[in-house]
Amino acid sequence: MSETIDTLTEVPESVSSEKFVEVKYDDSIPNNVDLASDKQLQRALESWHPGYLNWWKDMGPDGFQDAEVYLRTAVGVDPAGWAKFGYVKMPQYRWGILLAPKVEGRTIPCGRHKGEPVWQEVPGEYRSLLRRLIVIQADTEPASVEQQRYLGKTAPSLYDMRNLFQVNVEEGRHLWAMVYLLVKHFGKDGREEAQALLERRSGQQGNPRILGAFNERTPDWLSFFMFTYFTDRDGKMQLAALAESGFDPLSRSCRFMLTEEAHHLFVGETGVGRMIEATCTAMKKAGISDPNDTAAIRALGVVDLPLLQRKANFHMSVTRDLFGSEISSNAADAFSAGLKGRFNEAGLTGDDHQLQDATYAVTRVVDGKLVVEDVPALRAINCRLLDDYIADCQGGIDRWNKVIEKAGINFRFTQPHKGFNRRIGEFGGHRISPAGELLSEAQWAAQQGGWLPNDADGAFIQSLMKPCVEPGQYASWIAPPRMGINGQPGEYEYVKIA
Ligand SMILES: [Fe+2]
Ligand SMILES: [Fe+2]
Repeated sequence: MSETIDTLTEVPESVSSEKFVEVKYDDSIPNNVDLASDKQLQRALESWHPGYLNWWKDMGPDGFQDAEVYLRTAVGVDPAGWAKFGYVKMPQYRWGILLAPKVEGRTIPCGRHKGEPVWQEVPGEYRSLLRRLIVIQADTEPASVEQQRYLGKTAPSLYDMRNLFQVNVEEGRHLWAMVYLLVKHFGKDGREEAQALLERRSGQQGNPRILGAFNERTPDWLSFFMFTYFTDRDGKMQLAALAESGFDPLSRSCRFMLTEEAHHLFVGETGVGRMIEATCTAMKKAGISDPNDTAAIRALGVVDLPLLQRKANFHMSVTRDLFGSEISSNAADAFSAGLKGRFNEAGLTGDDHQLQDATYAVTRVVDGKLVVEDVPALRAINCRLLDDYIADCQGGIDRWNKVIEKAGINFRFTQPHKGFNRRIGEFGGHRISPAGELLSEAQWAAQQGGWLPNDADGAFIQSLMKPCVEPGQYASWIAPPRMGINGQPGEYEYVKIA
């Protein structure tokens, strides 16, 4: 799968900068949207900028603001090479506004306006719905930076620390991308929303982030890797659905964000994969073949596979809640309005992209039983995106299982039933096992410690979280990467800690 391959390369030297660099770096806000020609917009963004920097300093990576970090910065939107790599202090990162190129003749791919030319301006009748979609997407971007802010201090290597910071600065850029849309297209409301995005805080009682999973803690590196594999993948699905929007500036923003998102997914997949590799290698070396020989495995300074499964179960279930209620009239409205498509909408064949008469199979709980019901497809848009997400998760899981199989250990990672540990939608309020059995509260309470991380798991993981910051060194619980970043060796000094 392409998103698991970090294909980003340095800008080839043979490409002349005039020809290649589309982003104007002499502007205070790097951009390829000709910001200089819209003074009012430029001023609005410039006045938002100091508040953003204050937010970054308050809520961004704790303790590394003066470190020189080997980061990639977007310098164009050409798929063949859009990034350059170099040492940057994070507060000086060039957060820019980049849209993917306009597709000439693009039409609205779905809903009642299907086939009409895409909108370059906000359609008045859909203004508040569109603003809400953008605000919800925007809110997740700073939230994840906040969730991850203390992880630098326990990084298992400089390579991993650099990847964390890369993800963080790019989530910051994604916030810029959404704020640009709000400020440019939504006037005073948009400016107020842009301000509110800097004020909400992940996990804060009075003023939390909008979506539940973005208020969970990311307290350790295992959580970070699971988050980037499973929760950034929700980001991928949402961005992909918004990339189908009939509102073309949103589509173009999201298309470019997806390019960056691929690296976040890569960090998650390879992070978990390297942990599995370290565990299997240590088990083999110690002559342990039983994956449930927990005490002996943990004594080796690696994470047992059943614990990794419990962590995965937790992250999968809270991330599935991000898709919202499986049956949703808001999602139907957004689709029919042409504001948000399905995954790969324009490429889907086999229906009319309007779905007036179509149905979709939704699993529901009816009279104490799980049943599959055909419901109007328009109302099941969220369910479909969730199903596509679950399918998309499987690729990396299969690759993790290959590592275990190769080591000759009898264990396989699986995805729990869609209804497991859910709070939102069809399964909210029900207790469902990973295998998909409906349980009583008592049955759930007796067994959930085997399905979700328990207190002992948390304490063990915390005991492993010791920084490892010598170039080329890796904590016991994670294998070195196959390849460094941008062709650099594994022992490269990816972060020069000040
Ligand atoms: Fe993002
Ligand atoms: Fe991301």
